[in-house]
Parts: sequence; C-alpha cells; structure tokens
Amino acid sequence: MDFFYNQLLDNNKEWAKNQVKRDPEFFKNLSHSQKPPVLWIGCADSRVPANEIIGARSGEVFVHRNIANMVIHSDMSMLSVLDYAVNILKVKHVIVCGHYGCGGVKAAMTNKPVGLIDNWIRHIKDTYRFHKSELDTIQEEDSRFDRFVELNVQEQVFDLAKTSIIQNAWENGQEIHLHGWVYSIQDGLIRDQKCTLKNNDSLDIVYQLEI
Ligand code: CO
Repeated sequence: MDFFYNQLLDNNKEWAKNQVKRDPEFFKNLSHSQKPPVLWIGCADSRVPANEIIGARSGEVFVHRNIANMVIHSDMSMLSVLDYAVNILKVKHVIVCGHYGCGGVKAAMTNKPVGLIDNWIRHIKDTYRFHKSELDTIQEEDSRFDRFVELNVQEQVFDLAKTSIIQNAWENGQEIHLHGWVYSIQDGLIRDQKCTLKNNDSLDIVYQLEI
C-alpha cells in the first residue's frame, strides 16, 4: 500500500482522538441522532470540500455532491437526499454551491465528447442555451466561463424550487430557503449569488404546482 493511502487511516485515528479531547461526549452525542439545519448540494470536485470550507462540524450539514452540483429531476439519488433532508430532517436551508473553474461546466462550453458523462453534462448545456444571449456577448473566454458557472448555480436553485418536494414543503408552510453560492478555488471565498428563493412566486407559472 502506498504512503498516502495508509496516512488516511492514521489521520482518522488522530482526528477521532482530537475530537474526544475537545469534547468527551462528542461521538456519544452524535450517535443518538442528526439534526443538521442545512442541506448542501455541491460539486464532487476534490477542491471544494463542503464542511471544511464553511467550518462546519460533524452533524451540521447534510451533503449531496455530484459533477457540477446539478439538480436533475430524474436523479433518484439527489431526490432521495432532498426528500430526506426536507421531510425527515426538516432542514431550513438548501445551498447549491458551485465553483469557478468547474470542469463539468467547462466541458459544457465545448463540443468535444468525453464519454458517458456527456449525457450528464448535456443538462449544463441547457443552462447555456437559456442564457445564450447574455453569455455570447462576453468576449473573454474566462469571463464567459465564470458567468456560466454563476448562471448554472442560479438555474439549479430554480430547478430545486421546481421539485414537488420543495413545492409541497412550501405549500405546507415549512420554511425553507434555497440559496445559490459560488466558491472560488483561487481565494477560498464564497460569493453569495443573491438568488435566494423562499416560495415559488418567481417560478414561471407553468412550473407552479397546485398542491
Ligand atoms: Co466542479
């Protein structure tokens, strides 16, 4: 076994020891239940570790990650996580966190096939098509890429709002805020995209379910 791999298990022993040193009841308390106030939907990118960049501890964030932090309505894994987070854990906030330099978003800007993943990336291309008039006016490629990342996050926030899970919860008076963030790998800071949704008023009428 290589050094890095073995190191992971050693790191874990060290981490567990430190947690108990800080708080002897830490694992005992966590083992009873979880009540995280936040669901995080982020990119699978290794440089965007959910808990680490927001200083959250075990038990504070329910996490779902996939390539390019997508909310795809036929994705059973995402839907199951969302359903559990909303209906059982009763989270108050759902955060879609994208990041500049996202490989999935970059691939969606090009025409080069990558493989099976092209079918996943196709959904990101929809975001490009919806915002083509704005994106095509940005001459500089890096700026267009950055803007595409931001618009993709906003689009996923809307897609979250369109799910029957979120619309049912809102209809039942459950308070859930949907947020869009973009993280920068270059400076470690999050840019709130200020596209928070608290109800389905801003959804196109065709998406509003009469529950
Ligand atoms: Co990414």
